[in-house]
Amino acid sequence: MLRIGALVSGGGTNLQKIIDSVNSGDIKGEIVSVVSSSPNAYALERAKKNNIETSVLRLRDFGSRREYSEALIKHFRERNVELIVLAGFMIILDPVFADAFPNRIMNIHPALIPSFCGEGFYGLHVHEAALAKGVKVTGATVHFVDGKADNGPIIMQKAVEVMDDDTPESLQKRVMEQAEWIIFPKAISLFAEGRIKVYENKVKILKGDLK
Ligand code: GAR
Repeated sequence: MLRIGALVSGGGTNLQKIIDSVNSGDIKGEIVSVVSSSPNAYALERAKKNNIETSVLRLRDFGSRREYSEALIKHFRERNVELIVLAGFMIILDPVFADAFPNRIMNIHPALIPSFCGEGFYGLHVHEAALAKGVKVTGATVHFVDGKADNGPIIMQKAVEVMDDDTPESLQKRVMEQAEWIIFPKAISLFAEGRIKVYENKVKILKGDLK
């Protein structure tokens, strides 16, 4: 069973889909720790309802981003976590964090990377930027985390149509429903089965059993 740790900051709908997939057996793993950057994140309640250990670590309680990242490394190492999922985590960590868990941290980003990503592109801002540009298609990306924001090897992507009358909120909802909530649990499930390999910064998904 894969030991999974999660970092969250907000509502936790992605975390909920991951919990559901663990509970149904689609993800062959166990969520051993959920850490929130905010004490008010509803994601914490979702974890508690499922008897998952929760912790709150706030950036402002540490002297620097580096010290915060080091505390998170220690937290997950102490729990022998094998995969860390950033499920709506809104803080950019120091590169020491990615270096500590190479190709073992997954992030969900609400756009088709390399569009609308990097510093400042998070949450609703991503959808505001997509609408401001007038793209006809957007989507979501699951990728491994490296030392730069939204930069590591891409694991899965799914496209979603933009409608003429979309608001940032309506587009966010459609991207979650049609892309994020599907590809994030799927990518974690593939990882748990040992089917994700990284060659020269590109991901290959190995075929499963032919049934
Ligand atoms: C999701 O849309 C996620 O892709 C995005 O924030 C939302 C969190 O929702 N993440 C980022 O923008 C990270 N850069 P959730 O808390 O309901 O999962």
